[in-house]
Amino acid sequence: MVPLLPMPSVRRCGSKKEERSQPGWRDSRRRMKMYVSAAVSVNSGVLKGQAQNQNSTFISKEDAKTISSADNDGAISTESTVTIIVVGASGDLAKKKIFPALFALYYEGCLPKHFTVFGYARSKMTSEELRNVISGTLTCRIDQRENCGDKMDKFLQRCFYHSGQYNSEDCFKQLSKKLEEHETGRVANRLFYLSIPPDIFVDVARCASHSASSSRGWTRVIVEKPFGRDAQSSAELTRGLKQHLTEEQIYRIDHYLGKELVENLSVLRFSNLVFEPLWTRQYIRNVQLIFSEDFGTEGRGGYFDNYGIIRDIMQNHLLQILALFAMEPPVSLDAEDIRNEKVKVLRSMRVLSAEDVVVGQYKSHTRGGVKHPGYTEDVTVPNHSLTPTFAAAALFIDNARWDGVPFLMKAGKALHTKRTEIRVQFRHVPGNLYKRSFGSDLDRATNELVIRVQPDEAIYLKINNKVPGLGMRLDRSNLHLHYAARYNREIPDAYERLLLDAIEGERRLFIRSDELDAAWALFTPLLNELESNKVAPEFYPYGSRGPIGAYYLAAKYNVRWGDASSELTTT
Ligand SMILES: NC(=O)c1ccc[n+]([C@@H]2O[C@H](COP(=O)([O-])OP(=O)(O)OC[C@H]3O[C@@H](n4cnc5c(N)ncnc54)[C@H](OP(=O)(O)O)[C@@H]3O)[C@@H](O)[C@H]2O)c1
Repeated sequence: MVPLLPMPSVRRCGSKKEERSQPGWRDSRRRMKMYVSAAVSVNSGVLKGQAQNQNSTFISKEDAKTISSADNDGAISTESTVTIIVVGASGDLAKKKIFPALFALYYEGCLPKHFTVFGYARSKMTSEELRNVISGTLTCRIDQRENCGDKMDKFLQRCFYHSGQYNSEDCFKQLSKKLEEHETGRVANRLFYLSIPPDIFVDVARCASHSASSSRGWTRVIVEKPFGRDAQSSAELTRGLKQHLTEEQIYRIDHYLGKELVENLSVLRFSNLVFEPLWTRQYIRNVQLIFSEDFGTEGRGGYFDNYGIIRDIMQNHLLQILALFAMEPPVSLDAEDIRNEKVKVLRSMRVLSAEDVVVGQYKSHTRGGVKHPGYTEDVTVPNHSLTPTFAAAALFIDNARWDGVPFLMKAGKALHTKRTEIRVQFRHVPGNLYKRSFGSDLDRATNELVIRVQPDEAIYLKINNKVPGLGMRLDRSNLHLHYAARYNREIPDAYERLLLDAIEGERRLFIRSDELDAAWALFTPLLNELESNKVAPEFYPYGSRGPIGAYYLAAKYNVRWGDASSELTTT
């Protein structure tokens, strides 16, 4: 089908013409101004940090020339270099997500002309060995694309490895020397990705900042969650990082913010007249944020047991989605304007109390002759662990827009399905002429907007419709935007978007420290209460829909979970 209007391309790399046609987020003109002002500042002896939000480092006139030659479309000069240093390169996340995302960016022509990837970890490995390890996980995202093998070889030639300790400035000095060999005197930008356990974040930040930060370009550090276990430990971590880095250098990653449909939330709301006026307590009855996995910890419960589902999913991923969903229209699409609005939402929220939360833990269940082990049967989990693998919570935003509207969250492992979705249930139609056709269950007749974040991305709106024929029979149907059917392209992995943003200095999808503080302030009292009172989680069978308590919690607020019956979830 030929679209009626020319649709803007979603591709962000490669063609400059295409990129220029992109409205909004990627305000390349603003960044170009920063480069120009950086170059001008040099001539007037101003510190580079003031122009590029970086460490205070003087910049040479040659660098300024190079910087001012940045092309009109992007933040990275065609002559500068970018090195991405994956700290913890021997780990799972690096192998499964970071290297494949970098390759996908390279494949799509999104990485700058001069880039290098360095793996860093304690494990002894040569660069060749690293290439062998990661080559197994690189894929060309779109099947049957040309030159995939070629591109892979070229990418791997740009990958290197350096082994060292995480707390040794000497090791980072050696790393820096190696980086310089590849930077060959150009303006050199360095992006450190800390894919390591959080207790060594500050050590690495210190060593990277003191001994391996760039003196001829920017230095940025991506930090993976968890950002602490509670308000206090998170504040300590922030203090520790800020001893060595400025807030502008820290990119706290929440990969849910890089997901296509989460990115689309603001577009859906702010660029469609049919939605924005409805986005208030007047029309919306409740909002549900649902995350479910259909597998348990499966022998990798060590990390999880220390955190639990509330810290692992709710306090960050679901809360971030909620803030984006509920924020007031920002002044502009600039990162700070958006993050300011998100913080306002978080600070308007009621602190969670245990009465509004249900916690659960999966127990073993045998289905079709296959036994699925319970959480505490996982050998990496203590026998008497009370860590919740499921939680449901009712949250409230005490502001004029959302007063009294329950925002229900539900997150769990080992449930019947794997899905992340946002469900918006609208109020009943007042004085509905057709109410007799719905019987006593008016809830079934309310409109519901479903944004399925993953898998099989989709947006659909449940409406009431007349069944064709001579009588007057109504049924519920979906107005359905199914991404796979509508868009003939693969959806990039969240890590691709976020890595590209960090390289380009786009901070909109990363979490600012005051957002983090506000998020922990909401959840810390609850976590303390659950842990100090040793609250026992309600058991639910592996593969089920979770504990019954979640249904009572919803009922307390006159809500029915949108995913409760298969009829309601069909698309
Ligand atoms: N995997 C995921 O999907 C995921 C998702 C979100 C967040 N994260 C977070 O991202 C980070 C990396 O994840 P991952 O799954 O790759 O972790 P990982 O495999 O456990 O650790 C990454 C690397 O860090 C080093 N390391 C591990 N434990 C260490 C310790 N106690 N002291 C010093 N170094 C240690 C190891 O490298 P060497 O021994 O070679 O130095 C390891 O290869 C973790 O902090 C995790 O919490 C992971």
